[in-house]
Amino acid sequence: MKILFFGDIFGRPGREVLRHMLPQWKKEYKPDVIIANGENASHGAGISENAIKEMLGAGVDIVTGGNHSIEGKNADVLLNDAKLPLLRPANMSSACAGKGHRYFTFGNKEILVINLIGQVHMRFHYDSPFLALDNILEENKSGKNANIILVDWHAEASSEKVALAWHVDGRVSAVLGTHSHTPTADARILPQGTGLISDVGFLGPHNSIIGQEISQNLKRFLTQTPIKVDVAQAPPYEINAVFLEIDNASGKTIKIEQVRKIIQEDLKK
Ligand SMILES: [Fe+2]
Ligand SMILES: [Fe+2]
Repeated sequence: MKILFFGDIFGRPGREVLRHMLPQWKKEYKPDVIIANGENASHGAGISENAIKEMLGAGVDIVTGGNHSIEGKNADVLLNDAKLPLLRPANMSSACAGKGHRYFTFGNKEILVINLIGQVHMRFHYDSPFLALDNILEENKSGKNANIILVDWHAEASSEKVALAWHVDGRVSAVLGTHSHTPTADARILPQGTGLISDVGFLGPHNSIIGQEISQNLKRFLTQTPIKVDVAQAPPYEINAVFLEIDNASGKTIKIEQVRKIIQEDLKK
């Protein structure tokens, strides 16, 4: 099975560059499944009906999330809508709307997609992602027993990200990092067949501070004042993804390739 996985889609520029590149990358990579992290899809923080429609309309099959998933005025309704292929991290409070793991069928193959959030340098005290993942994998073993298992691992610290991948090496197909918005150069396959990248990187305005307007974001650091920060302008845009090939019989990753492009063209409609 071939998977194209996009990191955090940041605001309108993120949605624009996704819509621009996806037709070409579909031809080039022929993915069976396209997954994207949508936690920043609406104005840089949160989800909205419009943003989800745009991502699905561009060709995305499954939208994962993170700390911002539960923001946005209709986020609860959207996350609880079983018809939408949406996830939020599994180890968030059980009082949150939505689901943290779901099964999806593509062709004759059932896949399990799991979304998790880290505990290091996060604003809230989430449950252990390690134990949450163990529990989901146990449930899978005694239930549907899908062997293609993808984890969107939404966390800040590379140490925590890499640790989780080693914890589940051979038990999931791939652990794909999101949240830092900055792609890492460590895409690899661990000895027991789990594909890993600490962070896939984001989609959005290239001349920005992880998607946000530079002078406003800088002011936050210089004055230590919590200032509202806008989505930066594009072009240029950047687009980051990973392409995975997974062996259908074993569920192991046989190829993981980082895909990144900077686009100078103005993609506004
Ligand atoms: Fe993000
Ligand atoms: Fe995040």
